[in-house]
Amino acid sequence: MPIYLDNAATSFPKPEPVYAAIDRANREYAVSAGRGRYQRANDLQRLLAQTRTAIADRINAESANEVAFAFSGTDALSTAILGYLKPGDHAIASSADHTSVLRPLWNLQHHHGVELTVVGCDEHGVVDARDIEVACQPNTKMVCLTHASNVTGVLQPVKEAGHICRSKEVAFLVDAAQTIGHHPIDVQQIQCQFLAAPGHKALLGPLGTGFLYVDGTVADDCSPLRFGGTGSTGNEIEQPQAMPQKFESGNLNVPGIAGLKAALNWQPPTGNSAADSEQGSSLSVLSQQLADRLRQIAGVITYGPAEVQTPTISFNIEGLDCQTAGMLLDSQFEIECRTGLHCAPLIHEKIGSTPFGGTVRFSPGIFTTQVEIDQAVVAVESIVRELGVS
Ligand SMILES: Cc1ncc(COP(=O)(O)O)c(C=O)c1O
Repeated sequence: MPIYLDNAATSFPKPEPVYAAIDRANREYAVSAGRGRYQRANDLQRLLAQTRTAIADRINAESANEVAFAFSGTDALSTAILGYLKPGDHAIASSADHTSVLRPLWNLQHHHGVELTVVGCDEHGVVDARDIEVACQPNTKMVCLTHASNVTGVLQPVKEAGHICRSKEVAFLVDAAQTIGHHPIDVQQIQCQFLAAPGHKALLGPLGTGFLYVDGTVADDCSPLRFGGTGSTGNEIEQPQAMPQKFESGNLNVPGIAGLKAALNWQPPTGNSAADSEQGSSLSVLSQQLADRLRQIAGVITYGPAEVQTPTISFNIEGLDCQTAGMLLDSQFEIECRTGLHCAPLIHEKIGSTPFGGTVRFSPGIFTTQVEIDQAVVAVESIVRELGVS
């Protein structure tokens, strides 16, 4: 079996109850939610409500109605960015952000009269909240910031940014793709008005799931991306304005949401993996160990701070571009990892990985074992030895 170290892209495998829930939904109750008056359609509404509430509880939202289901992190981010910003508005993002933030903003800037400022980051990928404050203009309407870099794993100062946004009366959008499931998230503490997250990364739900949190104070000012049937106010052709239906036109991904619900309820068993004890704690230990051991290999350059903040470790091997390193890891050692820019094109200039074409990224997950970490380190050591860099 290959060693899967690409959990920052999507977690794999999923816990068994997630597969079971998807299968059961597909066989027994994946009907059209909220449309018919038959019993199964009603029962399904309950499942959706329970999942929505579980997500709201996870992020400390005031109401489950502030949570709209999405099909991915990208879907949720586009909904917030394209729905909220209007011609003449100014938005702020950062060099550490993902293209799921930067591309909708670029599109608005080039085609819809939105001004954009992209603030920099330091050599680890950390954004200085004061730069966000300085970049604010009278027409600034939204600040977008990733909670943790998907390249260096570093956490961003979201509380400080949230405080600044609150004082300037600017909406704050947090991209929680790399933190949800790894770190507690409290939207009240962060003071964000939007939080976008996939369900398929560290939350351990299936692909095709995600959500957007929209604070009640901004919901009216955010237009939906998709218009259509919601199973409510069917006598009117105007899109319903109520949350969350406003953002949930069309049939929902019922099997995916059933899987996500099972993932949210899942407790890791004990065994020889990062799921050994409390979720995440062994994963943090293994990730730190992996980063420390890679850092000690002469000829390996690691990125990000010494202390691993989310389980995402980027590195390069001197004399080797990252794509070749990735191919060798796969072909010679059956290690599946991500290589390149990781859809975060602007950070590489700042962290110094441009000459390598980006980085090799190891992202262990909850099912990664100590043996796999050992094999990954041995693989990198072997490549370095063969190259004769050390
Ligand atoms: C920081 C960040 N934002 C957004 C996304 C997009 O999430 P999704 O793959 O669910 O569309 C990712 C995915 O890798 C990410 O790492």
